[in-house]
Amino acid sequence: MDALRADPAAFTDYLDRQQNKGLLRFLTCGSVDDGKSTLIGRLLYDTKLIFEDQLASLERDSRKHGTVGDDLDFALLVDGLEAEREQGITIDVAYRFFTTDKRKFIVADTPGHEQYTRNMATGASNADLAIILVDARKGVLTQTRRHSFIASLLGIRHVVLAVNKIDLVDHSQEVFGEVVAEYREFSAELGFASMVPIPISARFGDNVMERSPNMPWYEGPTLVEHLETVDVGAHGSGPLRFPVQWVNRPDLNFRGFSGTVASGTASVGDAVVVASSGRTSRIKSILTYDGERAQAGAGEAVTITLEDEVDISRGDVLAASNDRPEFSDQFSAHVLWMAQEKMIPGRTYLLKLGTRTVSASVTEIKHKVDVNTFQKLAAKTLDLNEVAVVNVSTQEPIAFEPYSSNHVMGGFIMIDRLTNLTVGVGMIDFGLRRATNIHWQPVEIDKEVRARLKNQKPVLLWFTGLSGAGKSTIANLVEKKLVAMNQHTYLLDGDNVRHGLNKDLGFTDADRVENLRRASEAGKLMVDAGLIVLASFISPFRAERRMTRELFAPGEYVEIFVDTPLHVAESRDPKGLYKRARQGQIKNFTGIDSPYETPESPEIILAAGVNSPDALADEVVHYLAGHGYI
Ligand code: ADX
Repeated sequence: MDALRADPAAFTDYLDRQQNKGLLRFLTCGSVDDGKSTLIGRLLYDTKLIFEDQLASLERDSRKHGTVGDDLDFALLVDGLEAEREQGITIDVAYRFFTTDKRKFIVADTPGHEQYTRNMATGASNADLAIILVDARKGVLTQTRRHSFIASLLGIRHVVLAVNKIDLVDHSQEVFGEVVAEYREFSAELGFASMVPIPISARFGDNVMERSPNMPWYEGPTLVEHLETVDVGAHGSGPLRFPVQWVNRPDLNFRGFSGTVASGTASVGDAVVVASSGRTSRIKSILTYDGERAQAGAGEAVTITLEDEVDISRGDVLAASNDRPEFSDQFSAHVLWMAQEKMIPGRTYLLKLGTRTVSASVTEIKHKVDVNTFQKLAAKTLDLNEVAVVNVSTQEPIAFEPYSSNHVMGGFIMIDRLTNLTVGVGMIDFGLRRATNIHWQPVEIDKEVRARLKNQKPVLLWFTGLSGAGKSTIANLVEKKLVAMNQHTYLLDGDNVRHGLNKDLGFTDADRVENLRRASEAGKLMVDAGLIVLASFISPFRAERRMTRELFAPGEYVEIFVDTPLHVAESRDPKGLYKRARQGQIKNFTGIDSPYETPESPEIILAAGVNSPDALADEVVHYLAGHGYI
């Protein structure tokens, strides 16, 4: 049983075998002091799912701490489990299970510290209902609003407003009424299908499982009664969606597609379509651990074989043939940002949707949303816990559909490429038409033809380094030497590009990212034209240099780190900018109050604080000759 506690799926299976009851998944939201832990502890206690030994130690601990007199401190119970959990593998969300005669329950218990929003989002993504806990003395707080908003974003349609600590306001009907009225007004916009307010005292158990003798005025259900009977609709309904986790090919005779049915049912003989290619076939067999099956439903992990040889890879989606999901590379979505570091449009992140992971970036922030007032606000970047409507572009097309019709196919996470941390969650609203209406125009004269005429191998030479490092000077010398050798070149210089193409951009992080995105795209066009392109940009961030590199084929991008120590660059100060930056007249100056992230593995490092520009330019030319570019 203990082992089962760690694994929701196994627990559900276990209970299914024990008794055939409905399952309700819910989560509790509230600030740390609202009594979340106490409530969960109380639920576990009242439904008797606390094991004897835990109960004994709880009594001991409560007495020892003496925080709640002679009563058991239920928060201690849950916090104890938490500590136990933290010793194991760190997961952000712990699932706790309990059962009554009528239903079984999985409650996502999310720790209530700063990173709460992130954990809540994780816990909420497959919950049917949210209990929004409010301290009767404090009423509706910003946190309450934020959590309610996120719950609604994540598709939770049923909420319980648990007005807790009602004992501390003398079980007052009036106070309860006020909190409910305030919440009702706020939540009207969120469109919950049900919102049931219940006055409770998690500590004493009033209206949790047992009806409270202290609130004769309350006529509604107790919390447990409501949880046992609330109708939240079926899980995983809709047309078949089967994201392929891996292609199972033990030998040449067998080819199966393994994964978990996200929605609908798969039956032997069903016509299916591959979301990416539109190819169709029929399901030949459905295999599981326990043998063959005629059918598999949402949530089941199976291997499917098809009647025809169809090209399918990991991340593809098998769908009901009459209902193919969208397949494109641009969509509009709601994003909740969960990282300390800002979300910057144009920066690439990894986007994981179902079993597919691709490079992606936000192309535009339409607006962010004030969680208190639902006002739409203009924004250039997103901070921790902010929610915005954005356009997203993925590097390759992916199969998806609106989150409102399918959580698995419409929900995604964004991952930082350097730290590998989840930095955002998103809910797709709709695909952008322009993605399907714009096609790549095939041209007959290609890069190879153009390059051959010029007798060179096109390449982007990307000079990065501090302002005053000597990038432009060296790039200029390299270009002169190449032209003297009859090579065809173009020099894209940061300062110059900022006079035209990028004259609308300044030096905030967000503007630099856009500056570099455009410069990279321009560089790509020129490489396509067959040129040797020299680009000289501070390009202070690793993330964007990596983005540029990934725009090019291997060998087409050569990173040159013009390595001049800050004090040398500053002492040169050719444009007098360092001096002004030190005096505070220029903000966000690289090396002063804006970072420069040293390249990790550039192709060339130029010791520009030591050697002459001419010698350094020769180094670059030698590299090009030695690697067959010229
Ligand atoms: S980047 O960071 O976006 O790559 P870019 O290379 O285009 O910068 O432009 C840098 C040039 O702009 C510098 O050489 C300097 O002349 C000028 N400049 C003006 N303000 C700043 C600033 N705050 N930080 C860095 N460079 C600045």
